[in-house]
Amino acid sequence: MSQLYTPFTLGRVTLANRLVMSPMSRHRSSNTDQTPHPLGALYYQQRASAGLIIAEGTQTSPRAKGFPGVPGIYTPAQIAAWREATTAVHQAGGHIFLQLWHCGRVSCRQNQPGGELPIAPSAIDAGAFSVLDDGSRVPTDTPRALATEELPALTAEYVAAAQNAITAGFDGVELHAANGYLLHQFLSDASNQRSDNYGGSPENRARFVVETAAAVAAAIGADRTGIRLSPVSNYQGAGDSAPEKLYPLLIEQLSALGLGYVHMVEGFAGVQRDNPPFDYAELRRRFKGAWIANNMYDRDMAEAAIASGYADLIAFGRPFIANPDLVRRLREERALNAFNPDTLFAKDEVGYTDYPALTE
Ligand SMILES: Cc1cc2nc3c(=O)[nH]c(=O)nc-3n(C[C@H](O)[C@H](O)[C@H](O)COP(=O)(O)O)c2cc1C
Repeated sequence: MSQLYTPFTLGRVTLANRLVMSPMSRHRSSNTDQTPHPLGALYYQQRASAGLIIAEGTQTSPRAKGFPGVPGIYTPAQIAAWREATTAVHQAGGHIFLQLWHCGRVSCRQNQPGGELPIAPSAIDAGAFSVLDDGSRVPTDTPRALATEELPALTAEYVAAAQNAITAGFDGVELHAANGYLLHQFLSDASNQRSDNYGGSPENRARFVVETAAAVAAAIGADRTGIRLSPVSNYQGAGDSAPEKLYPLLIEQLSALGLGYVHMVEGFAGVQRDNPPFDYAELRRRFKGAWIANNMYDRDMAEAAIASGYADLIAFGRPFIANPDLVRRLREERALNAFNPDTLFAKDEVGYTDYPALTE
């Protein structure tokens, strides 16, 4: 008997099954005001048979920007557009969290208000690229290091974004602390070489993330606050030299806050799972909330991870893009639609809401 299709209680909501739609940027939002694309409500509703949808990375503020077409959650128009999506998902019986995203140093002057430098824990270039509204890729700019006195205002942006998400009808939020973006930049020693209380030791590098998680949890409820982590990913230059020292300590502090879940990216998102090897189960044992595992899972791996008790929920990314009815297809062992990378960031419905569901 598969446990993948059994309900799971996540804080104040009961999810219909253990399958989660991973947060995925689709870059279709307005570049004028970062308002979500009107088709987003249909896109997410089509996928509402997932036990939980984690909606795409969404800017906490204008400064959070690193890429075009990313939605925001800091204006009334954005909140109103997101409300359409949350209503559509709830009407279809699903649940939906919003991922809160700040790119930090993975940005450039052209993507920043007033052409200012992007912000980061330290003035170290990501060595990555940012994308302009016209679609052109440009190298990241070396960021400006945040002053200690600026950090509370940055946390306040996450808090306001989380409150706006609740106003928009989301069941909760996920802090994006993975894949080389701002919160991950604080965690990793390759991107954080601060000499104040927010840099240096693992305790210090964890501090900004823990303080921000605590502030968001205090504002909207710890059970409605999740966090995404990628301990071994060096994507966009944010690798940590000793994740086995930092992450146990971080997870214990997040557990003490009573956070609803940890969403663990095992390995390097979308690229590989195994190198370097890392003991995720050891981290899981330190966290008392729910555990979501992600990265390149298939049905058999998901079954095994739930059956062994390692994870409570499994997040699928790309398969959910191509298969709006992924849950049914997995349960009935039906063929999956092929995922087309060429239409990921196409216009409007193409590659977005036009993937077919099973008809019989
Ligand atoms: C088009 C695309 C956009 C993505 N955007 C995000 C994002 O906004 N936030 C995030 O944390 N991960 C993002 N990811 C990573 C996915 O959430 C997921 O970790 C990755 O695809 C691996 O899972 P999978 O093998 O099931 O696809 C994105 C991946 C893809 C393919």
